[in-house]
Amino acid sequence: MQKEGYAITTDTTFFNIEYIHNFLTHSYWAENIPIETVQKSINNSLCFGVFHIGRQTLPAGRQVGFARMITDKATFAYLADVFIDEAYRGKGLSKWLMEEIIKHPDLQGLRRIMLATHDAHGLYAQYGFVPLTFADRWMHIHQPDIYKKEP
Ligand SMILES: CC(C)(COP(=O)(O)OP(=O)(O)OC[C@H]1O[C@@H](n2cnc3c(N)ncnc32)[C@H](O)[C@@H]1OP(=O)(O)O)[C@@H](O)C(=O)NCCC(=O)NCCS
Repeated sequence: MQKEGYAITTDTTFFNIEYIHNFLTHSYWAENIPIETVQKSINNSLCFGVFHIGRQTLPAGRQVGFARMITDKATFAYLADVFIDEAYRGKGLSKWLMEEIIKHPDLQGLRRIMLATHDAHGLYAQYGFVPLTFADRWMHIHQPDIYKKEP
């Protein structure tokens, strides 16, 4: 998909893994994540890359955003690792990214799509996400410091 000098693709051969890793390893949710873990997570997910391409077409341009859907493509998906490069924020790129994710053919008819966010509820709410109802029914195993432990 192309729009006004930008492109969004799920073709991971265009992705800049070092760039994605550099962002994630400094993020509030995946600090210190190893690049091998990022690569493996991309290999096993439906991923979306945002690229600034100007007047060219991919593979020209540079990656400026990313999102990852962990999904069986039949019943369930979990949205993770959403970001837009700081220099490219405030231009509506994450909203376009969310539009493309929500309408992707592999993500239709799912019974549930989940995500967790610290402060971007207002972004996801525009695409149908609502706070958990009956939060007491949910359980999780959460190890927020898992990438900070010694190997
Ligand atoms: C959150 C983020 C992806 C937004 O990207 P962006 O391209 O600058 O956002 P957009 O220009 O598309 O606009 C985002 C929309 O969501 C809203 N919003 C709600 N919470 C927000 C937040 N925490 N940050 C940015 N926008 C937010 C904005 O108001 C805007 O809506 P509006 O245009 O109707 O006012 C970007 O700020 C980012 O990468 N942040 C750091 C990583 C991060 O926190 N990722 C989300 C993890 S859940």
